[in-house]
Amino acid sequence: MARYTVLVLSFVVGLTQAFNGDSFELECPDECECHYFRINWVTDCSESNLTEIPYDELSRSVYILDLNGNNITTLKSFPPDIKMRRLQIANNKINTVEKDAFKGLEYLIDIDLSGNNITYIDPEAFLDSHGLLNVELQDNPITSVDGPFLISSTLQYLDISSCNLSVINAQFFENMTSLTTVDISNNPLRKLDAGVFDVLTSLDTLNLNDCQLTTISDGAFSSLTNLKRLELAGNILTNTNWSDVLGNLIRLEYLNLRKSGLTSLSEDTFTNCTNLVTLILADNELRDLDVAAILGKSVTHLELLDLSNCHIQGPISGEAFANATRLKILYLSGNPLFAPDLQEALAPLPKLERLFLSNCGLHNLPDNFIVFDNLLELDISHNPLVNVFTKLLAPLEKLEYLNMGYSNLSYIGPHTFSKMTSMKRLVLSGNDLLSLEAGLFGNLTQLTTLELEFCGLKRPLNANAFFKNLTYMNLREIRLSGNPLVIPDSGPLFPKQLSQVTILDLSNCNILSLNRDSFKNTENITDLNLSGNRIQSGEGSLSFLELLHHLEKLNLSNNNLTTIDPEVFINNPRLRSLNVIGNPFVCDCKIAEMWDWANMIKGDLDMLVGAKSAEKDIVVKGNKKKRNLYCHYNETQLRNMTLSTTKTVPGRRPFVRPRELVFANRTWAKYVRESGCEPVVKILRPIALVAELFDVYEGHISTAALLLAVVALTLGLSTFMMTIRLYRKKKPATIYTEQRKQR
Ligand SMILES: *[C@@H]1O[C@H](CO)[C@@H](O)[C@H](O)[C@H]1NC(C)=O
Ligand SMILES: *[C@@H]1O[C@H](CO)[C@@H](O)[C@H](O)[C@H]1NC(C)=O
Ligand SMILES: *[C@@H]1O[C@H](CO)[C@@H](O)[C@H](O)[C@H]1NC(C)=O
Ligand SMILES: *[C@@H]1O[C@H](CO)[C@@H](O)[C@H](O)[C@H]1NC(C)=O
Ligand SMILES: *[C@@H]1O[C@H](CO)[C@@H](O)[C@H](O)[C@H]1NC(C)=O
Ligand SMILES: *[C@@H]1O[C@H](CO)[C@@H](O)[C@H](O)[C@H]1NC(C)=O
Ligand SMILES: *[C@@H]1O[C@H](CO)[C@@H](O)[C@H](O)[C@H]1NC(C)=O
Ligand SMILES: *[C@@H]1O[C@H](CO)[C@@H](O)[C@H](O)[C@H]1NC(C)=O
Ligand SMILES: *[C@@H]1O[C@H](CO)[C@@H](O)[C@H](O)[C@H]1NC(C)=O
Ligand SMILES: *[C@@H]1O[C@H](CO)[C@@H](O)[C@H](O)[C@H]1NC(C)=O
Ligand SMILES: *[C@@H]1O[C@H](CO)[C@@H](O)[C@H](O)[C@H]1NC(C)=O
Ligand SMILES: *[C@@H]1O[C@H](CO)[C@@H](O)[C@H](O)[C@H]1NC(C)=O
Repeated sequence: MARYTVLVLSFVVGLTQAFNGDSFELECPDECECHYFRINWVTDCSESNLTEIPYDELSRSVYILDLNGNNITTLKSFPPDIKMRRLQIANNKINTVEKDAFKGLEYLIDIDLSGNNITYIDPEAFLDSHGLLNVELQDNPITSVDGPFLISSTLQYLDISSCNLSVINAQFFENMTSLTTVDISNNPLRKLDAGVFDVLTSLDTLNLNDCQLTTISDGAFSSLTNLKRLELAGNILTNTNWSDVLGNLIRLEYLNLRKSGLTSLSEDTFTNCTNLVTLILADNELRDLDVAAILGKSVTHLELLDLSNCHIQGPISGEAFANATRLKILYLSGNPLFAPDLQEALAPLPKLERLFLSNCGLHNLPDNFIVFDNLLELDISHNPLVNVFTKLLAPLEKLEYLNMGYSNLSYIGPHTFSKMTSMKRLVLSGNDLLSLEAGLFGNLTQLTTLELEFCGLKRPLNANAFFKNLTYMNLREIRLSGNPLVIPDSGPLFPKQLSQVTILDLSNCNILSLNRDSFKNTENITDLNLSGNRIQSGEGSLSFLELLHHLEKLNLSNNNLTTIDPEVFINNPRLRSLNVIGNPFVCDCKIAEMWDWANMIKGDLDMLVGAKSAEKDIVVKGNKKKRNLYCHYNETQLRNMTLSTTKTVPGRRPFVRPRELVFANRTWAKYVRESGCEPVVKILRPIALVAELFDVYEGHISTAALLLAVVALTLGLSTFMMTIRLYRKKKPATIYTEQRKQR
């Protein structure tokens, strides 16, 4: 009886939610997957081996069209009345963009044409797109441009990095006066003339990294009074009159001059940049830099100063940072320094929060760390501190973050951390710590995060490193990635003291299998990363999940799973993100079952990472190459495939055109459509899940009561879904009229 009831219920659910996750009230090209992202109708045709755009199969209501990673060579015209907002054709083989390519796309906001073979783009190509905001054209061989580049009075974001441009002509930006962000990095420009940027009075961010620049004319940035962020790294700007070049940039907050061939800086270099917050001077030959003189009067807002690898020969004078009292973050890594100088130089910096002294040849440490009341993070990695460091670190009683990573430590004395009772985050990654001393972490009672990545550890943390009688209430996060762990056949991996851990990273640990009780002492884990191991499918191979009732996020990507059954997640009702990308899954009906489970029982296909476009696949600067969920057919299946493609299953969108299956690799989405697998949903599972939801593990509530709960839930859900659908159908039109009114 119960079974029939649930069957009926499943049918009700089926009516409101299509089985394979795409809603097909609106047209969707045969080769593509379509779905809503919030209120946007997404047509996802990415990585589908298309050679042309399926113009005549597109819905008039397509908001987002993703054609990334195909073999498209030419653009024709889109049908009239199309309401597209976002068009992605990155990583294809387009050669030219003619004037009519985007004709009629009145609603277009974003376009991504990066990674094509474009040599010419017509300046008038976007004339019809009155609301255009973002254009990505990076990685195309555009090479040279005469006259204005594009005509668009609304355009705000333009990426033309890596386009082999050697000249930016005087009219280049003339008709894009609303630009706020321009990325021209990695073009062989060599010089910048005055006037080029003059029309860009709204510009906020300008990236000119790696442009082989040797000359910047004095007035080149003179109109950019709103510029906040300027990137000039990787150029050869040895002979630049900085005070003239930067003189008008009164709003500048971030300046990157890394690796720019600087050898000296005059005293008035940053005089007018009074709002500078971040200054990066790393990787320049500033041997005789007088920090005091340069930063003297103008750095009152400076919070981050990066002087890494500047060959500063010191001694840094005692006044170096005298007026940089707001400095919070200081990088001195890679400079040969001596503790006594450092001690003097740092004395006026009581507000310092993070100090980076990596690779400074320090044998010793300053004695006055005690003055840094606010020092949170100290990075002393890559220094030859061996053996004496215990004593030197002892006074750091107030430190909250300590990075001693990659310091060739093979042993850490048992009392090293015994006085650091404020420590919150301890990083010891990259040291060959074959074993840990008894009581080493004992006194770290405030610790929240412990990072021991790539430490050559064979055993996960052993109880001895902690005090036996204590539960570390704050210790929530443990990172052990990259250790060649040997997992015991039975019993828990972690000691009782770590029962409060919620985030555990065991990625790339060479794990073949985990026993059922692996997490017995750490049952409160919510976020478990097991990616990059060698876990196989098979009897009980994922049984360790049974104890993790609080699990929310599980990463099993890049393991050796060939099949997976939704049944294994029966005890993880809170699971909302499952990543199984990069496993050698075989295409069989278990895949369809996983799909239905995510879509119907979990109610959200998004929880299955890679099943459909995520937000990061459909935003400006988003993924160009999506990571999909794949399975592969075996030889027998391939030979017989033509039989099952013709089979239609209720609730799934069948393929319309005959298809020859020559590729063994299928995305889960395509496999589910062509498999002919019945949309079977194991009917008792919802009951178990509802039971878990109400935390009735012991089964005190009767089956009847649970069934009632299911009925109520399903009916509620159906009403909700139908309302949403109605709302979704109406919404697009509303949005556009609003947008039009605004213009
Ligand atoms: C696209 O074609 C390549 C070979 O040209 C093949 O390996 C791949 O599986 C195909 N992808 C799809 C989604 O059909
Ligand atoms: C694209 O076409 C080239 C030949 O022009 C072929 O070698 C390649 O496999 C195709 N790629 C896809 C994804 O179809
Ligand atoms: C790019 O276009 C040029 C002609 O403009 C052609 O010679 C070249 O083979 C194309 N490259 C690719 C990768 O298609
Ligand atoms: C481009 O800008 C120039 C200079 O402001 C102006 O004269 C011209 O009319 C603009 N062209 C278009 C098509 O808007
Ligand atoms: C700095 O700003 C002042 C006005 O605030 C201006 O007179 C001066 O020319 C600027 N310096 C440079 C080098 O442009
Ligand atoms: C620090 O600022 C004071 C007052 O503004 C100034 O007199 C002094 O010269 C500055 N110190 C340095 C090292 O520039
Ligand atoms: C742990 O810290 C307490 C107080 O901060 C201190 O008295 C005790 O000696 C420390 N334990 C060890 C083993 O150093
Ligand atoms: C726990 O044991 C340590 C020594 O192992 C001892 O110093 C400490 O006082 C004990 N703490 C409690 C709360 O019993
Ligand atoms: C898990 O967390 C809950 C509440 O935060 C707590 O009551 C329970 O004792 C924890 N479990 C373990 C094994 O510490
Ligand atoms: C994956 O599992 C198969 C057996 O199913 C085994 O032959 C193969 O060596 C495993 N691969 C790795 C990298 O462990
Ligand atoms: C191929 O897959 C089918 C269906 O999943 C299965 O029955 C068959 O045993 C597999 N053949 C091989 C050689 O693995
Ligand atoms: C494949 O097709 C042949 C006939 O074409 C049939 O005899 C065989 O059973 C099929 N194999 C599978 C695994 O479906």
